Amino acid sequence: MGRTLLVTGGAGFIGANYVHHVLASHAEDKVVVFDKLTYAGNLDNLRGLDADPRYTFVHADICDRAAVERTIEAHGVDTIVNFAAETHVDRSIDEPGSFIHTDVVGTYTLLEAARDRGLRYHQVSTDEVYGHVAEGDSTESDPLVPRSPYAASKTGGDLLVNAYHVTYGLYTTITRGSNNIGPYQYPEKVLPLFTTNAMEDQPLPVYGDGLQERDYQWVGDHCEAIDLVLREGRPGEVYNVGTGTSIPNLEMVQLILDSLGKPRSLIRHVADRPGHDRRYSIDNAKMRALGWQPRHSPQDAIRKTVQWYVENRWWWEPIKSGEFRAYYEKMYGHRLADAHSS
Ligand code: NAD
Ligand code: TYD
Repeated sequence: MGRTLLVTGGAGFIGANYVHHVLASHAEDKVVVFDKLTYAGNLDNLRGLDADPRYTFVHADICDRAAVERTIEAHGVDTIVNFAAETHVDRSIDEPGSFIHTDVVGTYTLLEAARDRGLRYHQVSTDEVYGHVAEGDSTESDPLVPRSPYAASKTGGDLLVNAYHVTYGLYTTITRGSNNIGPYQYPEKVLPLFTTNAMEDQPLPVYGDGLQERDYQWVGDHCEAIDLVLREGRPGEVYNVGTGTSIPNLEMVQLILDSLGKPRSLIRHVADRPGHDRRYSIDNAKMRALGWQPRHSPQDAIRKTVQWYVENRWWWEPIKSGEFRAYYEKMYGHRLADAHSS
């Protein structure tokens, strides 16, 4: 029997990739995308799905309990997959309030609706909840030591999910993904920002020395993992999702430039992000034991991502020429004025 999924944040980067994946791989499933359409939500990400009778879009806020409950009842939702969040660390440093609202209060609102009806609940979380990891790999039972307002808000969400499992017996699962890259990622994030800047011969603003390490994973691999956990994950459990290999940002930057045939002289070292976590690294053994494995290395994922932005100017050019310009000037204007090359 098919499920009816409420995919919150389904018009964002990972959510949209997930919706495409579910509709393509589970013929019996129905998907209700529930999205506020913030600056990061984009109906272009869901292009082509309108013709599918198994797909519905609802424009609403996860903090609006009446709208959440109305949607669940109207569509017979049996499962919630929560992608909805404010997601960009730099914006959380600038303005933490919306992060606490959506990532904590929004999660609480969805959990309440799930509790009342005994729905299956999956929370899409991040490896940033573990905080900076000087050495070794984070496992699911490690302490949570978030250090940015974004990471702290996501941690609040994770703790609530666990509390609803323990206290009310709700069938919950959590995945903690490493940095995702691929189609439809808003160009505030480093991969699309640097790729599209390089395509336009604009400088790449590398924070500090660029030796911070991230585990860049292909978004499709992450979506497959979420799908598996939704179907086979054990109640109350947490699963790390990533390649298990972290690379320095400068290696990522060089891969982008080499893929595009652009010179290293585009690199600018700019003022670092306050409280920048230097390294995230996860142990993905628990996910592998469930039968999942990543199909792409970080290097393959980066090359494939660059290729997508080269082939899909229709998607990112309108974003970069819109309100994004004011954001870029605010975040990078002064940094680039004081920058130095490698
Ligand atoms: P995104 O910023 O691209 O998209 C977020 C989506 O949520 C947008 O469509 C936005 O309109 C929607 N949204 C925001 N506030 C909302 C609200 N109050 N009500 C309803 N919808 C709302 O984010 P993403 O990169 O696709 O991330 C999705 C999820 O995955 C987030 O929970 C994030 O914390 C998590 N995550 C992201 C990464 C990553 O590398 N991007 C890694 C691990 C986990
Ligand atoms: P980002 O895509 O913002 O993801 P996160 O901070 O959530 O991991 O950034 C990825 C890495 O790239 C991180 O170490 C910060 C760095 N970075 C830059 O060096 N310059 C930039 O302009 C941005 C946006 C990020």
